[in-house]
Amino acid sequence: MNSGGCLGVSSMKPCSNILILGKKSSIFGSSLLERGHSCEYNLSKSQLKLYYSSIKANCSHNRKILGFRRVIDSNRRVFGGSGSNWGQSKVFLADRVKKNGSFRSVIANVASNIRNNSNSVGSRLPENSFENIYIQGGFNVKPLIIERIEESQDLFGKDEEKGKVDEVKVNDGTFGDTNRFSEAEVSEPALGIHVSEVEKEAWELLRGAIVNYCGSPVGTVAATDPADKQPLNYDQVFIRDFVPSALAFLLNGEGEIVKNFLLHTLQLQSWEKTVDCYSPGQGLMPASFKVRNVPLDGRDGEFEDLLDPDFGESAIGRVAPVDSGLWWIILLRSYGKITGDYSLQERVDVQTGIRLILNLCLTDGFDMFPTLLVTDGSCMIDRRMGIHGHPLEIQALFYSALRCSREMLTVNDTTKNLVVAINNRLSALSFHVREYYWVDLKKINEIHRYKTEEYSSEAVNKFNIYPEQIPGWLVDWIPDSGGYLCGNLQPAHMDFRFFTLGNLWSVISSLSTDKQSEGILNLIEEKWDDLVAEMPLKICYPALEHDEWRIITGGDPKNTPWSYHNGGSWPTLTWQFTLACIKMGRPELARKAVAVAEQRLPGDSWPEYYDTKQGRFTGKQARLQQTWTIAGYLTSKMLLRNPEMASMLFWNEDYEVLEKCVCGLKTGRRNCYRLAARSQ
Ligand code: GLC
Repeated sequence: MNSGGCLGVSSMKPCSNILILGKKSSIFGSSLLERGHSCEYNLSKSQLKLYYSSIKANCSHNRKILGFRRVIDSNRRVFGGSGSNWGQSKVFLADRVKKNGSFRSVIANVASNIRNNSNSVGSRLPENSFENIYIQGGFNVKPLIIERIEESQDLFGKDEEKGKVDEVKVNDGTFGDTNRFSEAEVSEPALGIHVSEVEKEAWELLRGAIVNYCGSPVGTVAATDPADKQPLNYDQVFIRDFVPSALAFLLNGEGEIVKNFLLHTLQLQSWEKTVDCYSPGQGLMPASFKVRNVPLDGRDGEFEDLLDPDFGESAIGRVAPVDSGLWWIILLRSYGKITGDYSLQERVDVQTGIRLILNLCLTDGFDMFPTLLVTDGSCMIDRRMGIHGHPLEIQALFYSALRCSREMLTVNDTTKNLVVAINNRLSALSFHVREYYWVDLKKINEIHRYKTEEYSSEAVNKFNIYPEQIPGWLVDWIPDSGGYLCGNLQPAHMDFRFFTLGNLWSVISSLSTDKQSEGILNLIEEKWDDLVAEMPLKICYPALEHDEWRIITGGDPKNTPWSYHNGGSWPTLTWQFTLACIKMGRPELARKAVAVAEQRLPGDSWPEYYDTKQGRFTGKQARLQQTWTIAGYLTSKMLLRNPEMASMLFWNEDYEVLEKCVCGLKTGRRNCYRLAARSQ
């Protein structure tokens, strides 16, 4: 990365400090805006918009800041998430500024103050510095000025009153007391003692996909296909695609890239975005971002890096990336669990990020169900495939993100209502999905005999599913034992297709009961030739064909039967299968699938997906050297070698949620699945 990579601003150094604030710190308050005034920016012709990055200090090892020591309340996490470093003193890098007597979030506010009060660029920061400015050249995206006044002052209030102010060293990029994680350890797989040639190749390719921003790694591009003349957006860092890369790095003892990714995407969350004058919600995370290296205006031969997010406003079909925020939360929790560095999730800006995502998801609407209502293409399947409504994938990720958030959220006056809302939603969501999405032979038989048009609160067929909806293929396909969660459920509509990601995440997060989870793995084993065949795993089963394909996909030539999202095979799903198998004590099943993948992936250049019923051909339009194929393989291998690491990434049954069961099925026709789960 060239040394001019960052938009260098000599007077940015003092400005950067304003984002590391303590209420009584010398760098706080009065100096803020003054220093902001002294920062001068050069706006380019193309209406470049400036966004000043909040703190991140791993480039300046010796910097000292003022922080507050806080005594951690052992009840802080309502349900006592495990593995945290309670009782330690923590450093809080505050991102607020006192203005008119109240604290305002300055995630973007300070940036905007600086921006409004500035007019030219000073000299440069040292290379590799993290005190950056984000510049966005797009007309549709700009830094959002957050005007909301934050009430809670757990961090600033009580501790400050107690005068607990310490001088502390900023995290220098290593993770707490975890020696395994250091910046130096980046070249060789650390955990794989006997790394095969295939794995070595995969590591090389994965490292080749790393993207740097201002000299620091921030993610991996979706694909590095050398023959691809039209990369579309495959040269971008996708939030969902980065998850297996992140896990591979984390499991290998490399946390820096993941931390950087989490912080940079967090910054992007605050950008206001519009599609034809309409702005989606504030907590939306982009589907992807691109690091652009562009010439600096008026400076010959000098370049700057800029982050250019896509919130769906450029994406094919303008799909809303609902899953991005959920993945971000899940990854944040994984980062803490694996590295032991909980300080990241405790940062005020990170806490705010979690809350913004949750606010979006938990906002009241017209919904009658606790499941999240989304448009088609709002997740991994990001084009029209008839999954609008309440697709399982989103529900499973939503449930996982809620569980993660409950572990990570700092409980204080601001968040206590949110925590209550999370708990209620977890309870209602798990009841709803376990009860109504579950499909097995018995349930199909029930549906087969459903009465319809039942008008009463006592209706058995609550969603008015017509028995005629049971598809012909399912009657023969459903095994005697085992079952799965159906793809979608809404009034008079049950999508009986098997969607792999949603089912696997239900197992991983314990959205499904243990018995259901066993049933899901039994079904995958029983239907191996359909779901794994010659390449794990089918994204969904079966494919839409003929008129159904025409009507539901809109005649999408990329989603022809048994291709791409329509019954194609996606090797990246193997890591989630591995995790689910390890959780359920069936690693041998995962080993079998990984062996199938391993045999073909390197020879086929690690394709994005495979076509045909058996997954025999490389996908028609599949990118080669697809990063999440590579990372998914590596993550699977490492999880199988280190099942104790895997245990940090899944959840067991949540008995506190079960205790809150308020469903009406305790005394009725039969017990709900949740009651059955309690006695398991
Ligand atoms: C395709 C996939 C999507 C993925 C993206 C980048 O659009 O459908 O899930 O994130 O490619 O790999």
